[in-house]
Order: sequence, then C-alpha cells, then structure tokens
Amino acid sequence: MKSLISLGLAAALTAATPLIASAQFAKKEDALKYRQSALQLTGQHMGRIGAMMKGDIPFNAAEVQKSANVIATLSTLPWEAFGPDTDGGKAKPVIWKETDKFKAASERYMKAAVELNTAAKSGNLEQIRKVFGATQQTCRACHDDYRER
Ligand code: HEC
Repeated sequence: MKSLISLGLAAALTAATPLIASAQFAKKEDALKYRQSALQLTGQHMGRIGAMMKGDIPFNAAEVQKSANVIATLSTLPWEAFGPDTDGGKAKPVIWKETDKFKAASERYMKAAVELNTAAKSGNLEQIRKVFGATQQTCRACHDDYRER
C-alpha cells in the first residue's frame, strides 16, 4: 500500500509540474464548484460586513474581524480553480484569453482583502468603511469584465 501511495503521489506531482493551476481537480466540475463555493462564502461574509457599514445591523468589531479574516483567507482560493479547460459557470470565456489581466484583477482584490483584515483589527468604523468600499470596488471591477450577468 505504502509504495502504491507514494507512486500515486509521485505521479500527481509530475502531473502538477506543468499545469499547477488545474492539477488539484479531478474533474472540471470540481474546479467550478470549488471556485463558486469560495466566492459564495466570500459574498456571505462581505454581506455581513456590508450590513454593518450601511447601519442595517449594529456595528460589532469582533464580528467584522471574524468575517474579514475569513475573507482574507478565501480571497486566495478561487484562482487556482480557473486553470486551463475550466471554462463554464458564469465565468466569461475571455478570462482564458486575458489570463494576465485576470490574474492582476485577482491580485488587486487579494491586496484589498489583506488591507480590510488589517483595518478590521483596528476596530475603527470609519477606517473599516473606507477599506471595505475599496475592497468592493475590486470585486465589482472583476465582475464587470469577467463575470456574466
Ligand atoms: C479576479 C476576478 C474576481 C474577483 C476579484 C472577484 N470575483 Fe466574484 N466571481 C468572479 C467570477 C469569474 C465568477 C463566476 C465563477 C463561476 O461561475 O464559475 C464570480 C462569482 C462570484 C459569486 C457567485 C458564486 C456562486 O455562487 O456561483 C459571488 C457571490 C462572488 N463572485 C462574489 C465576489 C465578491 C464579494 C468579491 C470581492 C470581495 C469577488 N467576488 C471578487 C470573479 C471575481
């Protein structure tokens, strides 16, 4: 068994070398589900903070910190699931023609998510509000270019 496992691992690692982006997923549908799940959760936690920023629910610094921390982690996840041959869902096909621009958009967002996490730790509502707005802009900018309505 042990040798079978290491053989399998070796094969997986070899396969991963040229196409790291898609090697994690056995099937295309797995990649789609993975990125959609991560983005779905991101939407939920952005919504929780957003409701506090709008004053729909009372500001709770600890809850903002929890969500911002989750968002910072989630922000790193979807992109490996946009590897070759993973078109579909609401992802516009142009993503796979403009991989550099798509990657840049994901990096602007990841940077904003880290800044949001830092601002959340300050507990300062005005500071959080500002960085939250900037983070939302990075979501919107990517959706405008790369997500079907
Ligand atoms: C670099 C591009 C990019 C960024 C940045 C981005 N998204 Fe998206 N988002 C997409 C794409 C592309 C899809 C469609 C994915 C699919 O259907 O496979 C999507 C889908 C979603 C979905 C639907 C998920 C589902 O249930 O199918 C939600 C919710 C979402 N994004 C929220 C956000 C939020 C909130 C942010 C910012 C905090 C964000 N996204 C940042 C590109 C991006």
